[in-house]
Amino acid sequence: MEGKGAYDRHSLAQHSAGRFGIPVLERALAGLVVPTERRSPLLVADFGAAGGRNELGPMSIAVGALRARAADTPIVVVHTDIPTNDFSTLFETVEHSPDTYLHTPGVYPLAAGRSFYEQILPPESVTLGWSAIAVHWLSRVPTPIPEHVYSSFATGDVRAAFSAQSASDWDAFLRARAVELRDGAALVVVGGAASDDGAPGAEALMDALDRALRRARDAGAITADEYLHMNVPTWNRTLAEFSAPFASGAAATRAGLRLEEHSLAEVPDAYLAAFREDGDAAGFADSVTAFLRAFTEPSLFESLDRPPSERASLAGDVYADVRGRLLADPAAHETVWRVALLRITRSPR
Ligand SMILES: C[S@@+](CC[C@H](N)C(=O)[O-])C[C@H]1O[C@@H](n2cnc3c(N)ncnc32)[C@H](O)[C@@H]1O
Repeated sequence: MEGKGAYDRHSLAQHSAGRFGIPVLERALAGLVVPTERRSPLLVADFGAAGGRNELGPMSIAVGALRARAADTPIVVVHTDIPTNDFSTLFETVEHSPDTYLHTPGVYPLAAGRSFYEQILPPESVTLGWSAIAVHWLSRVPTPIPEHVYSSFATGDVRAAFSAQSASDWDAFLRARAVELRDGAALVVVGGAASDDGAPGAEALMDALDRALRRARDAGAITADEYLHMNVPTWNRTLAEFSAPFASGAAATRAGLRLEEHSLAEVPDAYLAAFREDGDAAGFADSVTAFLRAFTEPSLFESLDRPPSERASLAGDVYADVRGRLLADPAAHETVWRVALLRITRSPR
């Protein structure tokens, strides 16, 4: 994600998507087995925290519900993300935001800079896990996608390679959580998803980005090889893909996890709704470009073997091109992200 708080400032879409998980989180909390030995803290883990702004709501709900059930037990909230995450913004946000969950007494926030595709927390330590809009990020790009930067446009063997990488990453994520969760603990995942036909709902927007990049390639501003290796390393899973490891005898089931509920939701385009209210096409183009840039620029431009000033200037030109496309026709770039809402529990060992 883009640093210096940029992700937090431009993550309205993720914020809206994460909110869909709140009723699922509340059901998870209601069904939790809460250990109440005073000396043993209750551990809440947040997987894929980014700058923290969108975590404050769900963490406040979790902390409040746990405090109501265990008045004197310390609560530890561990925000996790990859080592290059904008942890400074995360710490500032948790410490100083008026919406922080730290108003509840006896709560201790910590952070871990490790990939959620491996075990991060000690065995049998986590009472509640939460992950919003994060597990669609793959651990690696399995193969470049010719003629596009976004995996939902991949076809044939390339598509199969992304689907296989996604399956193996999802298994790894679940196996790590199965070790970390205590008996009777719960994990809520709000996952970037796709409808049954594989569509995440952002095709028009991601195509605008790809067209801008191809224009830069065709004009010679970036080379064909640079373009080929520009990929957004994500895969939005269908509900069938999310559920597969929970079949009888499959990896998550063998590891002791149960899928208690799963559903698909569509997140209405908050930026387009604002444009339809106020008619401000420039405002729409600015907001959507900033949102897109915050989650795509690092994967597309940071690996270019060029001086930082050149990378920044190239990125500036490409996102200006995208902005022009959005400004010309806001409605054609409507984005209705799909999210999977999953409630998972840890069976007794
Ligand atoms: C779109 S942001 C979502 C952040 C936040 N949960 C929200 O709801 O807005 C996705 C986050 O997942 C993180 N992420 C991606 N791959 C990860 C991995 N393998 N391990 C941990 N975090 C990861 C990214 O660094 C990013 O901060």
